[in-house]
Amino acid sequence: METLKAITNRKSVRSYNNTPVDKDTIRTIVEAGNMAAGTPMAGKVYYTVISNQDILTQLVASAKGVMQNSGNPMLEKISSNPAFNPIYGAPVAVVISTDKAEDPNTQAMARANAACAGENMLLAATDLGLGSCYLESPTLAFYNPEMRQVVKMAETVQPQAVIVFGHTDDTTPHADRPENPDNIIYID
Ligand SMILES: Cc1cc2nc3c(=O)[nH]c(=O)nc-3n(C[C@H](O)[C@H](O)[C@H](O)COP(=O)(O)O)c2cc1C
Repeated sequence: METLKAITNRKSVRSYNNTPVDKDTIRTIVEAGNMAAGTPMAGKVYYTVISNQDILTQLVASAKGVMQNSGNPMLEKISSNPAFNPIYGAPVAVVISTDKAEDPNTQAMARANAACAGENMLLAATDLGLGSCYLESPTLAFYNPEMRQVVKMAETVQPQAVIVFGHTDDTTPHADRPENPDNIIYID
């Protein structure tokens, strides 16, 4: 029952306050990720847990730099906004990575492993009263080899997602969900 409550209450939070997240809470959330479903056929899932403010600042700068030079007009436009912060000022960012793979099926399974881990972390954070968000754009920071070195990320791994969490003043409920969503079909 409590799990369903966390599922219902989870939403993407994009503003965080200055209250630090204690180490035990960080550990609980990351370990919830590490307990997720996942196929060993795609190798391991790795967690780079960043709560050092200087390194978070470097991560943001690196991601924005990659976006600015991406050649993708939408990414260039978003990142040219000085107020844009791809991790929304969260005090903790967990980079979820998987072993690099050549085979598309293995790549898909690795991404699914990362997504399962990420969702577990979002639900754990929600259960503990924290805001959280599943993010793709900050993974771009690791196209920059220097950023990989800063967090000691091996060349053999592929960053798949960044999960951010922290205390928030955003208490608005999740946007309304339809009662009978048209994307669910029951075959009785
Ligand atoms: C694979 C994936 C990538 C995402 N990337 C981003 C992102 O880069 N930036 C962002 O603000 N939100 C990102 N999100 C969050 C989605 O925008 C959000 O989950 C969606 O709008 C639904 O809102 P909700 O999480 O509040 O239910 C991502 C979510 C997923 C699952």
